[in-house]
Amino acid sequence: MDAEFWHERWRENRIGFHLEAPNPQLLAHWPALEVPVPARVLVPLCGKSVDLEWLRERGHDVVGIELSPIAVEAFFDEHALPARREVTGELVIWHAPGISIYCGDVFTIDAERLGRVDALYDRAALIALPPELRPRYMAHLAALLPTGAIGLLLTLDYAQAQMAGPPFAVPDDEVRQLSGERWQSTPLGAPRDALADNPRFAEVGLTGIKEQAWRLDRLG
Ligand SMILES: C[S@@+](CC[C@H](N)C(=O)[O-])C[C@H]1O[C@@H](n2cnc3c(N)ncnc32)[C@H](O)[C@@H]1O
Repeated sequence: MDAEFWHERWRENRIGFHLEAPNPQLLAHWPALEVPVPARVLVPLCGKSVDLEWLRERGHDVVGIELSPIAVEAFFDEHALPARREVTGELVIWHAPGISIYCGDVFTIDAERLGRVDALYDRAALIALPPELRPRYMAHLAALLPTGAIGLLLTLDYAQAQMAGPPFAVPDDEVRQLSGERWQSTPLGAPRDALADNPRFAEVGLTGIKEQAWRLDRLG
């Protein structure tokens, strides 16, 4: 899954992952995490998700990271947010009140560049990455977020042989393994059956798919 795979998806508007309304799991679980306002919330691999705007409207200072300039421009256009662009080397950072989106590869953005972030929202980010990149991604998040940071992570699990991915199946055991010593991962409620409201998964032959929400705590 190289960068070109995602650039092509955005060029061709093949963005079946994009939701027009805030993610129901975000609505259900974020308030219970009691992330203070205005905590700075990191949303890696953010696409043009309307969840960014939902978090901003709650009073958070939102920081997205997204590879595709098409996605970033579309986000600010679709929400009628006038953005200021800051170019630093190869990185372009788009700023509007209450939100900044770093347009670039998440792995090239270090804590110094990002500044302090207090919380994390990961929807369709970990599960967008192939297995070999996931440990590096979780370690990278641990480097970006300080001890005590709280996160909401959404994962999918299904028989990987039934679909190539992305999104990839990331079973509970893998979440626990990836969490390692840097993260504590706690399931939030029972897994949700995600087949009924995602016809695209049934269409490609999946016979079942479960979505699990997790609370992540960055350990010391
Ligand atoms: C499955 S989409 C999910 C987007 C968003 N989280 C949502 O819920 O709509 C994954 C996104 O990650 C972006 N992406 C993939 N690899 C990336 C990387 N290494 N750095 C930054 N963004 C990346 C893609 O361009 C794509 O928009």
